[in-house]
Amino acid sequence: MENKKHGFGSSIGFILAAAGSAVGLGNLWAFPYKVSANGGAAFVLVYILCVIVIGSIAMISEIFIGKRAQANAVSSYKKANKNLGFLGLIAVLVPTIIICYYSVLGGWTLRFTVNSFQSIASANNAVSFGSFSSNVYEPVFFTLVFMVMASIIIMAGIKDGVEKSSKVLMPTLFIILVFIAIFCLFLGDGVKDGLVYYLKPNFAELGFSGVVAAMGQAFFSLSIGMGTLVAYGSYTGKEIKIGNATFMICLFDTLVAFIAGLAIFSAIGALQPESLKSAQGVGLIYVIIPQIFEKMGSVGQIVSFLFFAMVVIAALTSVISILEVSVQFITQKFRKNRKKVTLVMSLICFIISIPVAWSVGGAFDGKITIFGYDLLTFLDEISNTVLMPLGAIGACLTVGWFIEKKPSANPFKTLKSLQEEGIGLGKFGKIFAVMVKYITPLLMVFVEVMGVRGKFIEFGAKGLDYLPIVITALIIIAIMIALYFIFFKNKETGDNSVEEQLEK
Ligand code: PHE
Repeated sequence: MENKKHGFGSSIGFILAAAGSAVGLGNLWAFPYKVSANGGAAFVLVYILCVIVIGSIAMISEIFIGKRAQANAVSSYKKANKNLGFLGLIAVLVPTIIICYYSVLGGWTLRFTVNSFQSIASANNAVSFGSFSSNVYEPVFFTLVFMVMASIIIMAGIKDGVEKSSKVLMPTLFIILVFIAIFCLFLGDGVKDGLVYYLKPNFAELGFSGVVAAMGQAFFSLSIGMGTLVAYGSYTGKEIKIGNATFMICLFDTLVAFIAGLAIFSAIGALQPESLKSAQGVGLIYVIIPQIFEKMGSVGQIVSFLFFAMVVIAALTSVISILEVSVQFITQKFRKNRKKVTLVMSLICFIISIPVAWSVGGAFDGKITIFGYDLLTFLDEISNTVLMPLGAIGACLTVGWFIEKKPSANPFKTLKSLQEEGIGLGKFGKIFAVMVKYITPLLMVFVEVMGVRGKFIEFGAKGLDYLPIVITALIIIAIMIALYFIFFKNKETGDNSVEEQLEK
């Protein structure tokens, strides 16, 4: 390891941390209902394809960009190509936007864990969720506690914070998941109906919008298209095999999502089949699932605790990876103490998350909105639909075309120079080179365009309701480009050695 003290101590440490970033609410909550809504096994098939042809290629690119530079996202992109540093700046900003709503959901989950024993006894969870989420103080309090947990880990640094916690939390998560899945699969007759509802292949239902949804889900779930993998990648050294690591992370992420769906839909099918059709969105894990645990009697209290603790772990290991991106950049660029930077960044994100919590929870009669959207949807759309795919396209194009001094149209020439820089990949190198240069970016551009087009249709009769989201995203990009060329391009932006120097 080049950064012994501050980098990951082992390959497995990196893999678990990156898997921790990947496995999150996207897997345990969004994936299951997206599958059931978009043609069951047909969606799973397309999803796996997206992970292989698009996700894994972007993931390798991002880890490589970070690894070769051993620096924060801005410096990493800058080192790849001086004119592309703005991609790093966007990659620092987007995760920061995501924290502001992800931690609200993390807070909700935390509250359900804490209240597993109490709220289940209190008759109707649907009511209890509504009164909790629309409360002015409670969701804010739990968001704060969740942010504090994430900050403590990030303050401790990569090796002593991120790596150590991932090594304990990820295996714990997996054990709980398998336990819950087995438990749910044996709940009785209705399990079969639940599974049929979850997985029955239906290509007509999938449609093109399902394909776009699968790709969006793959981006979000694998944490690609922003700085998290660049940041984590920068803390790895020569011993890491990027190809193998990517394979493990993608496999683990997909497996967890799939198993979570098995568990959730078995339970709904067995205990509350009438809810199968409405098992969507926020209602799925915050209303229907608690109702089901309630039906299990006293066992349900324990299962509920385990289930929500598992979701908290998943959300926490994701949020730390998101927080790390900005903490790493600011620490290195401004040469400030990591703990102080973490504190300031968390505080800023927490303050922004307060109106988000009120808005999405329906406090103040649901009056806090922006362009007619609740703040969570607004931030989520900007980051997920528009900025994340653009970030992933940027990462692939950077590796495919702009890292070399003299880019050539021949992918095998590019591969040679990538291999000289240590990308590894063995016999898959050739496939990767062709994919990253041509196929993956083209596919991504196509799906991105179709995705945004689909949103225009979905979101408003006049098709214009989505415009504010696209315009806001474009303004963000423009500002980041301007900031980069004015303030960062020709100035020192630091690298991973800065933290070590600061300690001396
Ligand atoms: N991958 C995480 C999930 O599935 C979310 C995430 C997105 C984390 C982007 C980091 C970066 O929930």
